[in-house]
Amino acid sequence: MSLPERVVLVGPMGAGKSTIGRMLAKELGYRFLDSDRIIEERCGANIPWIFDVEGEDGFRQRETAMLDELSETRSTVLATGGGAVMRPENHALLRKNAVVIYLKTSIEQQVERTRKDRNRPLLQNDDPEGVLRRLFAVRDPLYTKLADIVMFTDRKSPRLVVRQLVNRI
Ligand code: S3P
Repeated sequence: MSLPERVVLVGPMGAGKSTIGRMLAKELGYRFLDSDRIIEERCGANIPWIFDVEGEDGFRQRETAMLDELSETRSTVLATGGGAVMRPENHALLRKNAVVIYLKTSIEQQVERTRKDRNRPLLQNDDPEGVLRRLFAVRDPLYTKLADIVMFTDRKSPRLVVRQLVNRI
């Protein structure tokens, strides 16, 4: 069995990309990378600050530049931000030398897992569930189209998801 150079995780906020990505990387003996965390480190500021000062568009520019840089990595598992699929030019960057995995998650689970979260600017409003629903309607077809593997994560422990992924990669 030959492993892909990169494993890239896509999916909505609250899909478990970081948790599962970290565990999967360990299992494969790969390095774990999280594009949002690297953007924050480089910028010296957190994502809410970037959205506040530079707007969502400023964040998306940083995200595209980061995906471009990370597309050259080898033996890595990459967790991406939920909106990484929104720019068409990102698609080739996400797919480059990679198996792309869509962690598919119900709205209910997304709501549950992002409750009380302060680091996601798009959810800091009166109706985070409505936002998650609207984003899902737009993004689900994009995640699905991009993915080599669609993995459902509802009612599964991260350990089980990782075990199932290892069998399919
Ligand atoms: C976003 C998701 C976030 C982060 C930013 C925007 C989105 O990442 O990139 O807040 O547009 O869905 P997570 O999916 O890791 O929460």
